[in-house]
Amino acid sequence: MRDDPRLTDLVQTSLPRREIEGTASQYLAFHDETRGGSVEKRRQHYAHMVNNFYDLMTDFYEFGWGQAFHFAPRHRGESLAASLARHEFFLALTLGLRPGVRVLDVGCGVGGPMRAIARLSGATIVGINNNDYQVRRAVEQTRAAGLDHLCTVVKGDFMAISPDDRPYDAVYAIEATCHAPDKAKLFSALLRVMRPGACFAGYEWCLTPRYDPGDAGHRAIKSGIEEGAALPELVGFDGVLDPLTRAGFDVVESRDLAPTADPETPWYDPLAARIALRGFHHSRAGRAFTNVAVRGLELIRVAPRGATAVSTFLNRAADAIVRGGETGIFTPMFYFLARKPA
Ligand SMILES: C[S@@+](CC[C@H](N)C(=O)[O-])C[C@H]1O[C@@H](n2cnc3c(N)ncnc32)[C@H](O)[C@@H]1O
Repeated sequence: MRDDPRLTDLVQTSLPRREIEGTASQYLAFHDETRGGSVEKRRQHYAHMVNNFYDLMTDFYEFGWGQAFHFAPRHRGESLAASLARHEFFLALTLGLRPGVRVLDVGCGVGGPMRAIARLSGATIVGINNNDYQVRRAVEQTRAAGLDHLCTVVKGDFMAISPDDRPYDAVYAIEATCHAPDKAKLFSALLRVMRPGACFAGYEWCLTPRYDPGDAGHRAIKSGIEEGAALPELVGFDGVLDPLTRAGFDVVESRDLAPTADPETPWYDPLAARIALRGFHHSRAGRAFTNVAVRGLELIRVAPRGATAVSTFLNRAADAIVRGGETGIFTPMFYFLARKPA
């Protein structure tokens, strides 16, 4: 987590100022049926949709959350930062990462987890990410951390990844494959770049068995989360396990890790907290404050036109995610471990 988030960080956004408003409008249209938005359209134009989203959101995410763009189950007395790191290290432990092992990080964001896992394990990690701005941030941060010798960031679409000379010994994906328009196609591509016997572990955003498609409230939460996170469509656990199997993986284990958190500190707690002294900037009150501040900055033309729309939309997204957690119909931590047959 960044220790000293500054509001001015939001102003140095990834896009030219004049493009913010139009990009936000284009992004929201993918999720708005009255403007032609649909699951099919999101699948077809996934790269455009996801890139628009991360062009707009990356600065807000780094400001409000840090360099690890994911959630974690949290235990009693554990800080948010410690829980995020433990969640990452669990994958490293599961995959047996150590010096000399070559690993692929699928959808590496700005590289927070990649750097933490490299420091912990000494493994050599290649992070793939399709967003130019995040790749730039990841390269800068990795250099600044002195981890160039272990971590490489590659700009590319994980749907089109192809084998190079040396297959990977392990693959992990942290809350990234939920963006894939076709999971079976993605998992098949990953299988091809792995050595026989290698393992793939990940955390997926999923609907839980509590989701009732006949419940209008549940459906509204589902589409709120899809809009709030650039997802073509949220699926249930089988929507991850079936494509893994169809791609040719043996699923070794899988479970939702959300119930492993302390009920006092559920994974969505940092977004839900109404008042928080620590982590104020990502609490509900902090987000409302940020929204007002961004509006002021936009009025005096320090923040670009559209910045308030982005901040408002992010608050709406956070509310849908919290409702998903509170109702138990959604988890961002459906864990799986799968092996490529030897
Ligand atoms: C929620 S973020 C998680 C990032 C990172 N794993 C972490 O935990 O900090 C999802 C990431 O997946 C990347 N992504 C989405 N679709 C992609 C694609 N088709 N190819 C490569 N990266 C993609 C996004 O750019 C983003 O960095």
